Amino acid sequence: MSHVRLVNVTKKFGDVTAVNALNLEIGKGECFSMLGPSGCGKTTTLRMVAGFEDLSEGEIYVGERLISSPKRNYYLPPEDRNFGMVFQAFAVWPHLSVYENVAWPLRIRKLPAAEIEKRAKDALRSTNLLKVADDSPANLSGGGKQRVALARALAINPDVMLLDEPLSSLDPHLREEMRFEIKDLQRKYGFCIIYVTHDQAEAMALSDRILVMKLGVVQQIDTPFDVYNKPANKFVFSFIGLSNFLNVAWQDGRTFAHGGAAALPASLTPPEDMRGRDALALASRPSEIAFVSEDDEGGLRGVVSRKAFLGEIIDYQVKIGEQEVRVQKGRRDPGPELGEACRLRFLRPFWYAGKE
Ligand SMILES: Nc1ncnc2c1ncn2[C@@H]1O[C@H](COP(=O)(O)OP(=O)(O)OP(=O)(O)O)[C@@H](O)[C@H]1O
Ligand SMILES: [Mg+2]
Repeated sequence: MSHVRLVNVTKKFGDVTAVNALNLEIGKGECFSMLGPSGCGKTTTLRMVAGFEDLSEGEIYVGERLISSPKRNYYLPPEDRNFGMVFQAFAVWPHLSVYENVAWPLRIRKLPAAEIEKRAKDALRSTNLLKVADDSPANLSGGGKQRVALARALAINPDVMLLDEPLSSLDPHLREEMRFEIKDLQRKYGFCIIYVTHDQAEAMALSDRILVMKLGVVQQIDTPFDVYNKPANKFVFSFIGLSNFLNVAWQDGRTFAHGGAAALPASLTPPEDMRGRDALALASRPSEIAFVSEDDEGGLRGVVSRKAFLGEIIDYQVKIGEQEVRVQKGRRDPGPELGEACRLRFLRPFWYAGKE
């Protein structure tokens, strides 16, 4: 059964539609991420769920309970929603100790003293902060401060944890570590997570499902696997993971790359419904292109125009006529040298109408 349900949720700021008719069901204990370019409406959505922002239209439910509805002029105040929240900025109070930061929301809720102590200590233990409980959070690192924010959100024993880029101010190693910590805490406490991030790897690693949004409009809601492997459209393909687009045209029963290259091999024939167009994009992932031998007729001819050693992988730029295609191979795979002619096989081509 769904736990958080958004029905036709729309938010307008003047002429800007920040979120457009969003329908969403998030399950109990699910980790759900929202991805999309800056300004696509992620934070606005989270703020509406939290109760900090009114809706222009639509309704939000938790379980069977209505929590926001402009039509019925009903808004459950944020403090009654039992949601934990952690945002990008380290919103900790430096004049209070770590312990008091975590206990504060419990004091606001006027819980009995023994209960406050139990919950605060439990949250501090879960986030490895018990030993610095009496310190000021001002003395902690960025990761430490974010842990305090997380502990404070945990202490209220939330049904839903709303996380808006909680790790983006941390360095890459710490981010990765805290990603797993958040997942462990979710398993332990059982809350559902709505997670906003710019970081695809983070969304992939954490989430049961991902929503990809563009200008307030949902593009796809799927598992990380399906968002990557079965993108709903060209935008999702280009937004998730690395992508190449080769502009091609269909003429007289053959496919030609724009910019003077010879006809593409028969292996690169667009699906029937895409033929007859003179503007098509052949989309591919750099890791899903192979270098094949010179006598492989199915391979597209090109010339290596850049070759960069990135450690585990080698990153190639291959010129196809006037266009370029990026190819990535493991450092142990044999590949051509800079300036060398080569042939490419697209292992998993996707076709989209229109020029890139
Ligand atoms: N209080 C506001 N008043 C007017 N416009 C707003 C307000 N808050 C957000 N917007 C607009 O709504 C749109 C969505 O903004 P939002 O902050 O939700 O995007 P976001 O996806 O969180 O972006 P980012 O990745 O940069 O954090 C933007 O066009 C933004 O300018
Ligand atoms: Mg935002």
